[in-house]
This record gives sequence, structure tokens and C-alpha cells, in this order.
Amino acid sequence: MDRRNFIKFCGVTTALAGFQAGYPTLRAAELKQYNKVKLVDGKGQPIKAKNLTTKESYVFNYPFMSTPAFLLNLPTKPPGGDKLVGKDGEYTWEGGTGVDGTVVAFTAICSHQLSYPTKDGSPISYYATEPSEDAGRTGVIVCCEHDRIYDPAQGGKMIATNKKATQPMAAIRLEYDAAADELYATGVYGTERFNDFFKAYKKELLEEYGPGVAKQEVADTAAVLLLSEYSATKDKC
Ligand code: FES
Repeated sequence: MDRRNFIKFCGVTTALAGFQAGYPTLRAAELKQYNKVKLVDGKGQPIKAKNLTTKESYVFNYPFMSTPAFLLNLPTKPPGGDKLVGKDGEYTWEGGTGVDGTVVAFTAICSHQLSYPTKDGSPISYYATEPSEDAGRTGVIVCCEHDRIYDPAQGGKMIATNKKATQPMAAIRLEYDAAADELYATGVYGTERFNDFFKAYKKELLEEYGPGVAKQEVADTAAVLLLSEYSATKDKC
């Protein structure tokens, strides 16, 4: 793995002039920094965190042009500070941001075998209002491909079931500009599997994005869509 851009934070407080990430301190965690991009709507206007619905999930492509991520406004503020373990080791999930500390983001590529939302359909989604049959409740991300359930209020950790455990969904780090009520994505932490994803879906990504585009980092802005706009259909389980 290319660790060129890894920055190890060990209880260091970051100073982000004019911004608040919503987290007082970065605990021991590894953040892979990617381009800092502003989250915008389909017309290129900055999205306002306070306008995000809690009743559906959003998707934006980050950190690469072809890698979808979920943006969720949870109904209540998650405590954060969860100690999680991925294939790259232990890390601490920082929690939510936004005015109420409820906005979180995770890669939408399943940690199990890399299923992901496409424009045709999504096997993986967040159950905001209608309970997942597999989980028996709302507030979970469930991948119907092989029924893995993840808890976005616990850093994307897989909820234990009779299925073989898999690592948590990698988290997208958000920064919040409180004065403007705007959000930025700045990096990924936990174990990301983007290289595996590019290999597994090489043909599909080439067809959808054209030569060389899928692996390009998103720059400047990322368009945020409702999952129902991003994918024509959604599996339920
Ligand atoms: S790919 Fe998601 S559960 Fe297997």
C-alpha cells in the first residue's frame, strides 16, 4: 500500500483556521489525506449542512471520480471515539460534524466484497425510515449482496450476525465551516480498499468513466445526490 500520504495523528489537536471539524481532538488515528473538496448540489451550489434530510441518504464520489461515499445526517449525534480495527490496524472514529454533530460520511463500497451503488442500482443503502429486514431496525447501512450490516453511529462498524465478520466501512473525514454551514471532504481513515475496487471493476469503470478517469482524484467540488437520484433502484433486505 502506498503510504506516502499517510499522516499519523497521535492525540494531536489540529488547528484548522476558520473551520471546525466538530471533533475537539484527533485521537490515535490514521488519516489518508486526499484533495479537500467542497460538497455541492447538482447545480454546483454549496450544500448547507442544516438542510440535509435525516430521512434519506446522500451519495457523492470521493476521493476518486468513481468511488461513491455515503453522506448521512443521523437523527441523533453519535458519541464518537469508537475504537475500531481494520486490516491496517486500530483507529478511532471521530464522530459526526455539522451544527448538531450528526453529519457523517463513509465509503459506500462494501467492506466485504466491494459491492457499491451504480447508476443502475444499489445493493447497499442506509435505512433511514423503513427498517431493514436483516437488521430489524432503522439507522443501519445494509449490503444486500451477502447481508452485512454496518452501524453509521458506531463508525461504520459491522454489527455482529451469523455472517463472517468484516472490517468497518472506511470513514470519510469531513470539515465543517460553521459560519457558512458548508462541508468539505478532506480524507479517508480506517482501511480503504480502493485499489481492490479498481481491480475488481476495471472493465465496468472503464465503460462508465472512460480511459484513466476512474482513478483520478476528485478536485475542488463533489456533487452530492440523494441515493434515489444516484441509483435507479435500491435493493431492500
Ligand atoms: S459485498 Fe456486501 S455483503 Fe458481501
